[in-house]
Amino acid sequence: MMECLGSAPAASTATVLENRQVGPGCYRMCLENDYIARCTLPGQFVHVRIPGSSLDPLLRRPFSVCLVEPSNGAFLVLYQVVGRGTKMLSALRPGDRLDVLGPLGRGFEMPRAGAGGGGDDGSGGDSGNSIGRGSGAVRVALVAGGLGIAPLIMLSHALFRSGVGFVFVVGARSGELLAGLDLLPRAPGRDAVLSGRSASPEPAGPEIVQGAHVPPNGCDTATDDAGPRYEVQVVTEDGSMGRRGLVTDALRDVLRGGDIACAYACGPAGMLREVARMGETFRVPVQVSLEERMACGLGACLGCAVKAREATARSGRTAYLRVCADGPVFWVEEVDLDGIG
Ligand SMILES: Cc1cc2nc3c(=O)[nH]c(=O)nc-3n(C[C@H](O)[C@H](O)[C@H](O)COP(=O)(O)OP(=O)(O)OC[C@H]3O[C@@H](n4cnc5c(N)ncnc54)[C@H](O)[C@@H]3O)c2cc1C
Ligand code: FES
Repeated sequence: MMECLGSAPAASTATVLENRQVGPGCYRMCLENDYIARCTLPGQFVHVRIPGSSLDPLLRRPFSVCLVEPSNGAFLVLYQVVGRGTKMLSALRPGDRLDVLGPLGRGFEMPRAGAGGGGDDGSGGDSGNSIGRGSGAVRVALVAGGLGIAPLIMLSHALFRSGVGFVFVVGARSGELLAGLDLLPRAPGRDAVLSGRSASPEPAGPEIVQGAHVPPNGCDTATDDAGPRYEVQVVTEDGSMGRRGLVTDALRDVLRGGDIACAYACGPAGMLREVARMGETFRVPVQVSLEERMACGLGACLGCAVKAREATARSGRTAYLRVCADGPVFWVEEVDLDGIG
């Protein structure tokens, strides 16, 4: 069995186990690749060569790893058809094989248990994202716009296994565009999603008081103090599911509660900018996962460079970070979010 190589990329083949439409233009593809299933950390991505594109060597496309099942050697990608590459992907059938690079990039930094908490001074304490005893910051917020939910699903499983409570705020233009809610920890029927194989049971964990169902009012709250649990808040712009409005409207209310140690966000650039502003206002450290266009995916071509905020301020010269190698996850202080999207 090949050892995990950290951030060093491994090129390999993945076999399609399932590729199924789950919404308008939205697909869920389950792939078999033992290395990626074992070695991917939440927030990392795979760079997939689109088959049938031999005349277009640049046709690799990045996708977040949404879920892994190491015991089955399977991993899941949730994707939206937006152009040529994703259209070709959607035509793949079980048994087809893909050339995949990964896992790539720097994923989410997990919250750490400790006495620091978010810190009254907004510094986030020493670690920036600690869950503090006595600090009032007892859970974290996950904020997803559209298919930005993909990397956050894997993060939600890691948090759940670590016993960290969280609120997952999920938004889309309308209810039919919401995807992936059934992939949250212990969601009904989740065992069947990885290719119809019997998935290994969720590790014995603390009881979830509120599960990943979508409550009619789009907001669900935990009701007792027994162990970590999570809640899901659904927001749609047209009000067809959950609360009507923007995902950031719901996030604002969550942050007003004062018990959020840090926030993790993935979605459209405008949403990320607003989440960053809110983090500053409420003194909550924020990590964002960026989805810039990529070429090599390996840190070599600078095709995905974004302006670095802290490094530019420090050196007085414009500095850049590579989304593929330095990210795709960044603390908001690290990057100039005005320059993305
Ligand atoms: C780290 C990372 C993780 C990603 N994870 C996912 C995921 O889990 N699910 C998912 O559906 N997509 C994800 N994306 C975006 C995905 O890579 C693009 O949608 C895909 O490459 C489009 O390929 P295409 O050939 O179909 O589109 P193209 O024909 O190349 O482009 C079609 C249209 O989509 C736009 N577009 C292409 N790439 C991007 C992009 N990266 N961001 C914004 N707009 C783009 C183009 O500007 C154009 O308007 C991720 C991107 C990155 C960088
Ligand atoms: S895509 Fe080449 S450096 Fe990031």
